[in-house]
Amino acid sequence: MGNTKELDQSKMDAFMEKMIGIYNSGALNLMISIGHRTGLFDTMANMEHSTSKEIAAKADLNERYVREWLGAMVTGQIVDYHPEDKTYSLPREHAAFLTRVASPNNLAVTTQWISELGHVEHEIVECFKKGGGVPYSSYRHFHEVMAEESAQTTVAALDEILPLVPNLPESLNKGIEVLDIGCGSGMAINRMASEFPTSKFLGYDISEEAIYKAQSDAKKHGLTNVSFEVKDVSNIGDSKRFDLITAFDAIHDQADPEKVLTEIAHALRSDGTLLMQDIAGSSFVHKNLDHPIAPFIYTISCMHCMSVSLAQGGAGLGAAWGKELATKMLEHAGFKRVEVKQLQHDFINNYFIANKISSKEY
Ligand SMILES: C[S@@+](CC[C@H](N)C(=O)[O-])C[C@H]1O[C@@H](n2cnc3c(N)ncnc32)[C@H](O)[C@@H]1O
Repeated sequence: MGNTKELDQSKMDAFMEKMIGIYNSGALNLMISIGHRTGLFDTMANMEHSTSKEIAAKADLNERYVREWLGAMVTGQIVDYHPEDKTYSLPREHAAFLTRVASPNNLAVTTQWISELGHVEHEIVECFKKGGGVPYSSYRHFHEVMAEESAQTTVAALDEILPLVPNLPESLNKGIEVLDIGCGSGMAINRMASEFPTSKFLGYDISEEAIYKAQSDAKKHGLTNVSFEVKDVSNIGDSKRFDLITAFDAIHDQADPEKVLTEIAHALRSDGTLLMQDIAGSSFVHKNLDHPIAPFIYTISCMHCMSVSLAQGGAGLGAAWGKELATKMLEHAGFKRVEVKQLQHDFINNYFIANKISSKEY
């Protein structure tokens, strides 16, 4: 017997409208990503009312593709169209969130994740059926997008992030030893090395591609107080060596996050500090209902963070492991004092400041 209860027509209409909005937003996300990667937004921001031919010529792109892209941009109300002379213009208020000069407010950077994830959809569907995960090697330009994202989020906010740890900028100026685990392309640690020449910095990452980029950038900027190693951080192996260990968005996608946290605790000096940036949110899905980008986080997690961990036979914590579980795991790894802080206006990240010495022992 089917459900004979009558359906609520207004609820159905509202949901259908929501679905249509999802089609359009999903499509526009892809087109915004293309606009960023092709430099079309940057080009248009420097042009007055222009035809598709003029825009394509200036951007050095194929006019037919540019015109179709403009169709999506105009109907998506991102670009203005002027039918009297068939010209297009990018409002300055929109350029303020879509161009490279607008960084760290270039929101187009983040749209690239959806196309990056679309690339592995077939493999993810197979994982839904058979379990397992998608390895890092399947992603097309993960480290490239991550570096762009990191430049806008972590690097641009370092002046606010570092003071979250009491007296840290002062200690960095005096000279301390710092390790960044899962450093990726080294955006954050290279910037810290440049700002604090008296401190020594080391970056570990499992990706050869990312470490190569980190080393090249350090060389390009003439940095002599930073080095990088391709290393699996579930075996750091150092004991009481570092004053500060940073982990920027690099714990939840580990194969063995528990082991990594324990290794970090061993590698820190007794009075050392772990500064861990990770996704803000709760470990409980119902507490994330009001989170402004919760569906985005669960999606990235399902199609990347959780999956790369499962691909290594790992824990598959996922990006939404949440503040409650993260705090518990840090305590379990040997951190007696764990504080969780946030930056004003940043709803994406939590900052965990963890010490092996409890407040009483300070
Ligand atoms: C989300 S990315 C963050 C990268 C960087 N911290 C940033 O903010 O741009 C996570 C990084 O952890 C690295 N990673 C994952 N598992 C690792 C492991 N077992 N050992 C070392 N690095 C690892 C990945 O290669 C990747 O660069």
